[in-house]
Amino acid sequence: MCGIVGYIGKEQAAPILLDGLDKLEYRGYDSAGIAVFDGETIQLAKARGRLKVLREMTHGGEMLPGTCGIGHTRWATHGIPSDTNAHPHFNGTESIAVVHNGIIENYLKIKKQLQEKGYEFVSETDTEVVAHLLDYYYKGNPLEAITRMMHRVEGSYALGIMFKEHPGKLYAVRKDSPLIVGRAQGGSLIASDVPAVLKYTRNVYFIQNEEIVCLEEDRLNFFNVDSDPIEKEPVTIQWDVSAAEKAGYEHFMLKEIYEQPKAVLDTLNPRIRDGKIEIEELGMTDEEIRSIRKIFIVACGSAYHTGVTAKYVFEGLARIPVEVDLASEFRYRNPILDEETMLIVVSQSGETADTLAALREAKMRGVRTLGIVNVVGSSIAREADNVMYTWAGPEIAVATTKAYSTQLIAEYLLAMKFAQVRGTVSQEEIDEMICDLKELPVHISMLLDHKEKLQRFANRYVAAKDIFFIGRGIDYAISLEGSLKLKEISYIHSEAYAAGELKHGTISLIEEGTLVAAVLTQEDLYKKMLSNVVEVKTRGAFLLAVTNAGNTEVEKAADYVIYIPKTNKYFTNSLAVIPLQLFGYYVALGKGCDVDKPRNLAKSVTVE
Ligand code: G6P
Repeated sequence: MCGIVGYIGKEQAAPILLDGLDKLEYRGYDSAGIAVFDGETIQLAKARGRLKVLREMTHGGEMLPGTCGIGHTRWATHGIPSDTNAHPHFNGTESIAVVHNGIIENYLKIKKQLQEKGYEFVSETDTEVVAHLLDYYYKGNPLEAITRMMHRVEGSYALGIMFKEHPGKLYAVRKDSPLIVGRAQGGSLIASDVPAVLKYTRNVYFIQNEEIVCLEEDRLNFFNVDSDPIEKEPVTIQWDVSAAEKAGYEHFMLKEIYEQPKAVLDTLNPRIRDGKIEIEELGMTDEEIRSIRKIFIVACGSAYHTGVTAKYVFEGLARIPVEVDLASEFRYRNPILDEETMLIVVSQSGETADTLAALREAKMRGVRTLGIVNVVGSSIAREADNVMYTWAGPEIAVATTKAYSTQLIAEYLLAMKFAQVRGTVSQEEIDEMICDLKELPVHISMLLDHKEKLQRFANRYVAAKDIFFIGRGIDYAISLEGSLKLKEISYIHSEAYAAGELKHGTISLIEEGTLVAAVLTQEDLYKKMLSNVVEVKTRGAFLLAVTNAGNTEVEKAADYVIYIPKTNKYFTNSLAVIPLQLFGYYVALGKGCDVDKPRNLAKSVTVE
């Protein structure tokens, strides 16, 4: 979702801005633009469509000379994707240029008031209000104009701002949208995310809510909303540029699918010591763990799907009731929370607006909160009482794979820890589970070795209209993710159904040749699932089955079977999801879709 970049320094700004925007492409966008200041004029170039269009239009940036600039990739919210609505936006005299990520919620009211004062608007965006409002408040001091603007606007924003009267300075400010600042050799940078600056520096500052930064070529000055100077410490980014590049893979998604064995291991290893589960970041005493009577797991998208799996694992192992909620629903349903409740929010980016809002709601109500987060230093990581990081490394493809797999691991570990402390499983069982967990990376690698077979199978389904995924229990949770992976990148309609529920309506959609992917990893439900498989088979479905090694009986009904290695019944999701990810990937590839950047989607959904 919208990405912003900015540069001020010795070098030409435009190529650096375009390069930075390139690194933020994964966030999802429909138009892009840059504004470059040469000390006299601020020049603007913006275009609907991919960055390629902007690159060609500006001859790789050459047409906009200058050493200070801001850039933007826009994911349309207010106003259609168009050249005019693309950022940057100007005030009327083109002396203030602004890029924005977020939503100004009271923009209509401000727009009306500004129009009454004679301001003319050219776009339909909420962002243009910021440019005109800054103009209205600007009396020669940018900081004063910015803080007054901050007091007026409601909503979320990360802004990059240039003032023509102040060459040599670039301003940035944030509230509830991500923003980082970096100091490099001969210049300073802003960006929505680390990959955009990593080529130039590893030392970044995470800008907190309502903090302002004034960037100059050789220094950074930070201020609070009262314009008081504040001190900030840089954070050194440990991972390198190659972690955010394709390394010879055709797509980030495939690369990230292949990184899963390592990501799983990296998330697991630090939490298993001398055969015991140690989750120091949990920050809870055994007594506190025992006092929890109910857990809410709240998240969006695939992170929510890991929560659906975790419910079965937590309830099965630790015997604690778990409710799983979509973050966008949780906060508006007045959930019943008390001091014996714990809230776990799960998020790759740590910036998803609804998940963050759910976390804040729970905190406000005095509930203990834990974030399972991938992006270090992100908003959720900072605001949750405790944070358990998933060590997946940077995930660039919009469709999550390795972050999803590491979220599952974090949730298994938590459930086991709770079970251990509450005495609901024996030490022998925990020991066995630890062995099974340790074997997961090897099993995942084995499943990845079968990718050609899956590609051949997937190629037969590039023209499919509907595909259904069915399962029971944890297999239903896997189906949800398999279905989402397929539809989000291949644009084929797909639904996941609890297998027993299919006959209450959806089975009417099954016709001759409809592909149904059935997941049968839960041995106690295997027979029931076989009946459901036969039900759809009799109605003409073509059956893909994913089941445990040895379950050959399914071959009688299924047309194509993928066997996963045996593991603990609570961990099968980690294996069954691999062929489903590959299936989605290869169907999308076969259809010629933009696998890493599916239409209309954003990696980090920072608006509600
Ligand atoms: C977007 C992404 C999904 C992700 C969801 C939640 O929709 O495309 O892959 O699962 O947001 O994101 P989060 O960063 O909170 O895990």
